Amino acid sequence: MEKKLHEAMNEQIKNELYSAYLYLSMAAWCEEKNFPGIAHWLKVQAKEEVSHAMKFFDFMVDVGAKIQLLAIEKPPSDFSSVTDIFEKTLEHEKKVTSLINNLVDLAKKANDNPATLMLQWFVNEQVEEEKNALHILETLKMIKDQGPALVMLDRELAKREG
Ligand SMILES: [Fe+2]
Ligand SMILES: [Fe+2]
Repeated sequence: MEKKLHEAMNEQIKNELYSAYLYLSMAAWCEEKNFPGIAHWLKVQAKEEVSHAMKFFDFMVDVGAKIQLLAIEKPPSDFSSVTDIFEKTLEHEKKVTSLINNLVDLAKKANDNPATLMLQWFVNEQVEEEKNALHILETLKMIKDQGPALVMLDRELAKREG
């Protein structure tokens, strides 16, 4: 695999695991503040992020690219509200989208068709991730992050499968 693409893919395994760590940290905050449904949603999201890391891991194995696991940063643990959590989620997913776009660029420049093809899955996934975060954030703004509606949202997010 071309050097820059290879390095960025190793980085992306770490980035996806960092995402899992970030959502798990948010879940811990929600559990503490008695939002078990939102915590559940975030825990499912954290698991999904681990599966993203594994998609990169398995792809690198398949094409014989050496895997190097890098240090995972400490995520923030203090949040001011549920809205704050979903603002940070949306912001984070936008950052991940730009990382994926950068990987696509590198794969195309390297004429790496398998990588370009594999990355298309992530391009679609990022549309979904941003949409989900934005949808919850808009709902939170509507209900002003409080009252019975927030309890209802907590119950709604408890239903996420996975
Ligand atoms: Fe991800
Ligand atoms: Fe997703």
